[in-house]
Amino acid sequence: MTKRVLVTGGAGFIGSHMAQRLLALGHDVVILDNESTGSVDNVPAGAAYIKGDVREPADLARAFAQPLDAVFHIAGQASTVRSFDDPLADLAINVGGTVNVTQHCLAHGVPRLLFASSMTAYGHPAGLPVDEETACVPVSYYGITKYAAERYVHATGARTDLARPLHVTSFRMFNVYGPRQRLDNPYQGVMGIFIGNVLREEPVNIFGDGEQSRDFVYIDDVVNAWVTAWQSPAAHGQVFNLGIGQGHSVHAVVQTVAAALGHDPAAWPRRYGPERPGDQRHMTADIGHIRRTLGWEPQVSFAEGVARTIAWARSTN
Ligand code: UD1
Repeated sequence: MTKRVLVTGGAGFIGSHMAQRLLALGHDVVILDNESTGSVDNVPAGAAYIKGDVREPADLARAFAQPLDAVFHIAGQASTVRSFDDPLADLAINVGGTVNVTQHCLAHGVPRLLFASSMTAYGHPAGLPVDEETACVPVSYYGITKYAAERYVHATGARTDLARPLHVTSFRMFNVYGPRQRLDNPYQGVMGIFIGNVLREEPVNIFGDGEQSRDFVYIDDVVNAWVTAWQSPAAHGQVFNLGIGQGHSVHAVVQTVAAALGHDPAAWPRRYGPERPGDQRHMTADIGHIRRTLGWEPQVSFAEGVARTIAWARSTN
């Protein structure tokens, strides 16, 4: 049955893939995006597009003007670095914007909300891989706002005073990568940044010693998880980690990208700078909860995902 879904941030990297899949499944899709890091070029054909901001109630009113079956709330300020440069903007977009979205869901009786949370909520967990029961002690301003927004979503989902319940699900996404990730924005996503650096034949910048590691999850696997959760009552009220359960260091990313683009992986020039504020050291996801609850399994290995992302990057450069 065709449903009507609002994707906030649908002109961005993750949101545009989500919108594209929802359209392919035969749903009606409305996109709200302020084009701060996204681009209208990413908006898939067939989606209704509203340029607007989740901080602005008037823009949300337009997005909620027709009845919605679900909201995929992905719009956000996504850079840890920028959260330190402008903490109030980060707070207004990530927390204020999310509160606006939940309030509009309630006002319009929307039954379902899925939210893009972040592994930055965990801060420096004592043990890895980290599971969803682990206490969240975010160490970056960004992690604080994402975690606060996630709690607003789940406190709203737990309300018993509503005429119509709002069923919510959040995903603590680890490092999502893939086609349409920005190659030219130094504040966003180390995989895209390094692919852009090597394609432009620039040295890479490494903040810290380069041995910090991340769990890289390919965009198609992320979309699979969201779409499966949307349709599954078992996902109501749940928070799921989304990674693949493997750590790759920043050094390993440089080497993999340089080698995949035909260069000597050990010889690509690197410039070292100080570690960035709020940076996490090692992060890997325990994905047992989403496996058990939804039967979700990552399909795309790190090597395959990097190869696909590079094939896309080459085709656009
Ligand atoms: C990323 C996402 C964040 C998301 C989180 C969890 C971005 C910008 N941030 O945070 O939205 O919520 O994962 O999924 O996508 N680094 C370098 N050189 C560079 C760029 C980065 O050494 O040129 C280092 C960083 O200092 C960091 C690591 O690489 O140690 C990863 O950085 P990055 O990809 O920007 O993301 P996270 O901070 O992990």
